[in-house]
Amino acid sequence: MVRLQKYLADCGVASRRASEEIIRSGRVSVNGEVIREMGVKIDEDADTVLLDGAPVTPRKKMIYIMLNKPAGFVTTVSDDKGRGTVMDLVSDIPYRVYPVGRLDYDTEGLLLMTNDGDLTYKLTHPKNNVEKTYIAEVSGNINMDAITKLRNGVFIDGVKTSPAKVSVIGATQLGAKLEITIHEGRNRQVRKMFEAVGCIVKKLTRTKEAGLNLGHIPLGRWRKLSESEINMLKKIGTGKKTSRETSQSIYGKHSPAGKSKTRGRRKTKPHYSGNGIRRSASVPGRKTKSN
Ligand code: URA
Repeated sequence: MVRLQKYLADCGVASRRASEEIIRSGRVSVNGEVIREMGVKIDEDADTVLLDGAPVTPRKKMIYIMLNKPAGFVTTVSDDKGRGTVMDLVSDIPYRVYPVGRLDYDTEGLLLMTNDGDLTYKLTHPKNNVEKTYIAEVSGNINMDAITKLRNGVFIDGVKTSPAKVSVIGATQLGAKLEITIHEGRNRQVRKMFEAVGCIVKKLTRTKEAGLNLGHIPLGRWRKLSESEINMLKKIGTGKKTSRETSQSIYGKHSPAGKSKTRGRRKTKPHYSGNGIRRSASVPGRKTKSN
């Protein structure tokens, strides 16, 4: 139950004080009865509230989250093979949110999810060139020639990829660890780009998207985006520069995975949520189909 003036304010009719004036003037009815006095409470799910004869309904609550997707989950709403989906990982959110774009079954890392269709459109439309950064652990011989090829663009299915930002983080027992930033979203693009230069991606993690950083969210958990993060995303496609576009260039400079610029300066501990569902990661060597 909620006070009528609060309900009107929550629905975006007017401020709470202005809503009180509107009630006093006799413009509001609840279940057909005009209400003029304060203090009346309504049941949002059952009562019918009219303003000047028109229904007053709650604004859709927009939810924006960042999930740290583990390997072994498909980025779909349901899976006909019965595999775990990213929806299983956000089932503790009382609203339905949908993945923004896709990560492969085997890929880990930053996956935005929201019920804001306009923002999903902006983030996924190729014209907006939204940057996505990955850490790739690869086997095979990665040399300067391969890196130059990746930077300039390689051919996947006969079509050249756009220039990428690539830097080497270091050598591993198997091969190398690299950071790669692309703004296209072709199917299994990063894996295919490395294949084109003779390397196999053994582990792939998305660490950044559209200026957002995965940070320290535990695998399989999620957090809500902050107001400033949401506002930054909403500027995409408007021609206005986001603060991070003006202050940050990743090209040729590696910022290690999980170490955001705010590290050590964060005043409040971020709140992570998630239902803690864990599934076994994909079995190495077993062929899994990309979603
Ligand atoms: N590129 C890939 O190859 N896989 C992903 O999941 C994302 C980008």
